[in-house]
This record gives sequence, structure tokens and C-alpha cells, in this order.
Amino acid sequence: PLWEAPELPASGSLDELNRRVQQCRECPIGARATQGVCGKGPQGAAVMVVGEQPGEQEDLQGRPFVGPAGQLFDRALQRLGIGRETVFVSNAVRHFKFELRGKRRLHKTPSQQEALACRHWLEDEIAQVRPGALVALGATAARSLLGRPVAVLEERGRWLEREDGLRVLVTVHPSYLLRLPQGEQAEAFERFVRELGQAWGGAS
Ligand code: URA
Repeated sequence: PLWEAPELPASGSLDELNRRVQQCRECPIGARATQGVCGKGPQGAAVMVVGEQPGEQEDLQGRPFVGPAGQLFDRALQRLGIGRETVFVSNAVRHFKFELRGKRRLHKTPSQQEALACRHWLEDEIAQVRPGALVALGATAARSLLGRPVAVLEERGRWLEREDGLRVLVTVHPSYLLRLPQGEQAEAFERFVRELGQAWGGAS
């Protein structure tokens, strides 16, 4: 609408981007969340890893991937000997979308419109971080990064290329691993570690 202030140009720092995200009401999720959660990590990181959206813990703490999915992600990085502080970790969507069940806030997958509305924040971040390569954890991240629907279970473990030339390695989301039957988790985790490792190894 005409009465809204125009979008500020994508300039400045990651801190400025974070401040602007806190004001974002371009979709309905922001008003219900505790805070917006931006990516964390060093500018110029070799690899930027993108998830779906903050969960309960991330929403409360204001940092990406600190809850159960984040802990599994950390275990995978440890297995690869990669320090989390060397990785830029972010999300496709900046706010936690949930459904209230009693007092509990249950994760709800963001709609395509919501993910699309949020995409410019992710692109601003990529422009500032200038990573060597991208990793998409799951379908929401893959679609936001590549601008098309991605069948993750078919395209996982392969390098895909964006129009700007940046390469994207697609793999599953750690929450997917947590939902698998117990008996399948160990093997699925090994495959996740191998695929994630490709992002640092370069070759596919
Ligand atoms: N799941 C995500 O996709 N991102 C987070 O930050 C946490 C959980």
C-alpha cells in the first residue's frame, strides 16, 4: 500500500539487516513471533547453510539452529571436523510460524507466499556474506535459493546452479532425520554427513 514506507535499499551491514527484519510485517507470521531470526556466522564464509525457519528455541533465543535440529546439525559438523563458527547458518524464513496446541507452540510449515515474501531478506544476506557455496537443508530452503520447486529426495547430494552462478548443494533437513523411525536414523545420519561434507569438498 501507498502509506507504507518504501523498502530501504539493501545496503549496510548484517546488523542493519537484522534491525530491519525485526520490523518486518510483509506476511502475517512476524506479528506472532517473539523476534525475527537472522543468519549467524562470518562474512566471506566458504559455505552458507540455509534451513527453513526458526523453531521454538530459535524464536526465543534469536539465533538459528540452536534447538534439536540445530544440535543434530552440530553433530554432523563435528563429524566433518568443521567448526560451526566458520559456517554462516541462516533460514529461508525469518520468523517462527506455529500453531497453538494448549500452551505449546507447534511448528507449522510456512506457505509458499510467506517463503516468497521473505526471500529478499535471504538474498540481502547472501549479497553481504558472499559465500563460496550454498547448502539447502530441505525443500523450503531449496525452493527459496533456486527459485523453483525442488524434489529434495531426488536431487539431494548434487550441485545445482543458481542464475547468479552460485552453486547450491541440496540435502535433507535435520528435522527429517529426527522424524525417521529409530532403526533408520543412524544410516540416514551418515548419508546426511556425507552430503553435507560435499559442500566443503567441492566435487559432487
Ligand atoms: N529448523 C530450521 O530450519 N531452522 C532453524 O533455525 C531451526 C530449526
